[in-house]
Amino acid sequence: MTTKKINTVIIPAAGLGTRMLPITATIPKEMLPIVDIPLIQYSINECILSGLYNIILITKSCKYLIESYLDCNINIYKFLEKKRQSDIFSKIKLVYPSYVTITYIHQKNINGLGNAILSAFPIIKNQPFAVVLPDIIINEYTSNLKKDNLSAMLKRFQNTGRSQILVKKVRNFQNYGIVYCEKKSMHFNKHAKIIKVIEKPNINNNFSNLSIVGRYVFSKNIWKKLKKIKPGKNEEFQLTDAIDLLIQDEIVEAYPIIGLSHDCGNKLGYMQAFVQYGLYHKKFGKIFKKWIKSII
Ligand code: G1P
Repeated sequence: MTTKKINTVIIPAAGLGTRMLPITATIPKEMLPIVDIPLIQYSINECILSGLYNIILITKSCKYLIESYLDCNINIYKFLEKKRQSDIFSKIKLVYPSYVTITYIHQKNINGLGNAILSAFPIIKNQPFAVVLPDIIINEYTSNLKKDNLSAMLKRFQNTGRSQILVKKVRNFQNYGIVYCEKKSMHFNKHAKIIKVIEKPNINNNFSNLSIVGRYVFSKNIWKKLKKIKPGKNEEFQLTDAIDLLIQDEIVEAYPIIGLSHDCGNKLGYMQAFVQYGLYHKKFGKIFKKWIKSII
C-alpha cells in the first residue's frame, strides 16, 4: 500500500506553559532559547528536513512573539548589511526558506492538545498530517541517522498507511502519554502495533514505560476521532484519547526514537537540553565543558 506523501504539519503552540512560570507569563515557552536558538526554530528546522513545507502553527495572540520572530527581524539584517558585518550576516540563517508556508490559527479556547489539533481541520480538511510538539527537541547531535525520526515515520506511513507515534522509554511515566505495544520489548528501528494508550496514567497504573515523544503522523481517520473525544485527563480534550479510539479501527504503530530527546516544557528537561546543546556548541563547547568540570 502506498499513500499520498504528507507535506502538512501542525505545530501546536497555544499552550500557557504553566510548568515554566514565571518566565512564560510574558515569553512563550516556544521562544525560550537553547543557547541562542529558540525552541520553535528547532521544530521548524525538523519539519523542513522531513519535507513538511506546509506548516500550520496553532497559537494565541498573547504569544505574538512567536509570529514576530518567524516574520524575521528585517531591521537587524539591514543594520548588519549597512555596517558591512557580512561575516555575522552570512551566519544568521533566515528562519525559514521561501518555499515553506506558515499559516497561523489562533486557538479560541485552550482546552487540550486534541482541541488544538482539531482547530486545524478547516485548513487541512480530510487529509493525513504530521504533528510536532515544539517543547520536545530531538537531539541532533546524538542521532547518527542519515534521515531523522520524523522522516522515517513519514516514510513508514507512506508505505503502510498506518499512523505512527514516536516513543521512548521513561521512568516518570505519569507525566506523559503512555503506550502499550504488542511486542513488549522494542528494538532500535523496529515499530510495533499499539494495543492501548493512556494520557498520564496514575502513579499506581504502571502498565508500560513507553512514552509518547511529541512526534506523530496521522491517517485522515484521526479527524473523526478528534471530533468524538470528551474531556479526559485534567478535564482537557486529549489527543491521546483520540489515538485510543483510532486503534480500535486500524493499526497504529509505535516508532522507537533513535537518538535522544529533551522535554523543554519542564524546568529540569529545559536545563538538561541547554547544557547538552551548550556542550556540543561549535565555538564554545570545549571551553564550556572545561568550565562545567571546574565547578562540579
Ligand atoms: C503532551 C501529550 C503527551 C506526550 C507529551 C510529550 O503532553 O499530551 O501524550 O507524552 O506531550 O510529547 P504535555 O507535555 O503537553 O502535557
